[in-house]
Amino acid sequence: MSVHSEIKRVTTETLRKMKFDKEKITMLTAYDYTVAKLVDAGGVDAILVGDSASNVMAGHETTLPITLDQMIYHAQSVVRGVSRALVVVDLPFGTYQSDPQMALHSAVRIMKESGAHAIKIEGGKEIEDSIKNLINAGIPVCGHLGLTPQSIYQFGTYKVRAKEEEEAQKLIADAQLLEKLGCFAVVLEKIPAALAKKVTDSISIPTIGIGAGSDCDGQVLVFHDMVGMNKGFSPKFLRRYLDLYEQITGAVSQYVRDVKTSDFPNQNESY
Ligand code: KIV
Repeated sequence: MSVHSEIKRVTTETLRKMKFDKEKITMLTAYDYTVAKLVDAGGVDAILVGDSASNVMAGHETTLPITLDQMIYHAQSVVRGVSRALVVVDLPFGTYQSDPQMALHSAVRIMKESGAHAIKIEGGKEIEDSIKNLINAGIPVCGHLGLTPQSIYQFGTYKVRAKEEEEAQKLIADAQLLEKLGCFAVVLEKIPAALAKKVTDSISIPTIGIGAGSDCDGQVLVFHDMVGMNKGFSPKFLRRYLDLYEQITGAVSQYVRDVKTSDFPNQNESY
């Protein structure tokens, strides 16, 4: 028997049951093998190979530049490090929006070439046909509503979405549509907590919030933000559990001093 078969894997069905049992769902991002291993060992239920890799890994200003091939590379690395969590991968900008056939082709490539378990896709009614195509092919789909970063140039700002009634009503309708289409969960990003509660209460699939208050069925954060590796990004919703920026730059400075002063390596560190 392999080691993997002894670990009970999280599935989309597990997440559905967690909502039903009122057990909160935890999700963090990972883009590489080492972080995926750490996050899985820490016990998260789901790992998101987010297109935020475009910002965090590649230093782009937005999520738009990352390619399907690059997402597949990140997803492959993450899958190799995970033995328990559900691995969800973002479909990147330009690979699904206006062409349901292209959406299916992109999602199939991710599933086949990485071994990931599910796809996340930004939007509601506008991408209904793309979502249908994926679900008809047996691919589990997680929706993403509210602040959808791939539309940043349409929004013009990263401010809280759906504060106005019209956008809030559309968001509720979109969440209900995603449920009807067969999505297994929906990420709600940066919307008022009261609206996130309304959505959560009105659908039977789990909501996973980021900047959407405590009434969502689960929470997701970007790993590099929650361990404090990123000093410049401090939105109100972010809780930092470590201050790795200070710790890592401190360790690097100490190493530089030790080498410069011939303190490192010492006799015990030499052959
Ligand atoms: O790409 C990402 O990291 C995301 C989360 C912020 C939900 O979509």
